[in-house]
Amino acid sequence: MALLACHDPDPRELVADLRAAVRASTSLGVESIEWSQISESEIDEAWQRDVRPFQASPRLRVVPSNSVGPRDPSVLRLSPSLAFGTPSHPTTRSCLELLDSCVQPGERLVDVGTGSGILAIAAALLGAAHIEAYEADRSACRAAIRNRALNHVESRVEVIEARVTPESLRKLSDSDRIDGVSANLEPAALLPLIGSLARLPRPGGWILLSGVPRAELPTLRESLGSELLDPVTERVVDGWWTGLWVSRPRSPREPEADRPGH
Ligand SMILES: C[S@@+](CC[C@H](N)C(=O)[O-])C[C@H]1O[C@@H](n2cnc3c(N)ncnc32)[C@H](O)[C@@H]1O
Repeated sequence: MALLACHDPDPRELVADLRAAVRASTSLGVESIEWSQISESEIDEAWQRDVRPFQASPRLRVVPSNSVGPRDPSVLRLSPSLAFGTPSHPTTRSCLELLDSCVQPGERLVDVGTGSGILAIAAALLGAAHIEAYEADRSACRAAIRNRALNHVESRVEVIEARVTPESLRKLSDSDRIDGVSANLEPAALLPLIGSLARLPRPGGWILLSGVPRAELPTLRESLGSELLDPVTERVVDGWWTGLWVSRPRSPREPEADRPGH
């Protein structure tokens, strides 16, 4: 079964296109393709019903948003709807574990591709002072805004609807002091940004990257700029890689125009 986000109230055209694509590229009989439309609230209800509380890291437990209990910074309440970002995916799970090891109280962070907001909200619960959480998809932004309210971190998690580019990252690194960066992105989105992401954290700050299948690691390492970062730890879970680095002190003579990824 496939779940597709469709903002059109009448999805028949989308279904016709899907049938045509299946007919053109596979030997599957399109008559067997059935579809039904489910609303975001039905998806939420299924999540509440089927998901069990999960100890995502030493200090954080993720629970469905309707779980009862007092307000508690060790509990992250989640209602992802159609957005990516639950501990059932190995990249999100690995990021949550590593975030727990690196976020320091009072830090200013950037989360690129926030999806449900899970990493940004986790960082706030772990004590970060401010997180700029960028997300290109409007319905994911809505989910992130809902989730930050569920966790009472509205004043610290800023959800920004924008597609991040190397240029926007360069402006960001020029304008702000950034202590840490998380980016769990699919390879096609991550690889073009990687040189600019590596330059975001202040010297001594950290960067957490994920979303890359093991086979793409050589390409990622090549683009990363090992002169900028020292590795702290990396892990591969179910074939998905996640890595944490700290930023090295910058050489004062490093020419701006030679920056990789710019
Ligand atoms: C793999 S999901 C990760 C979600 C969440 N951060 C997590 O760790 O589970 C990647 C998200 O990044 C968003 N995205 C991809 N490229 C982006 C870009 N250039 N700028 C902003 N968001 C982007 C996608 O819409 C998607 O919601």
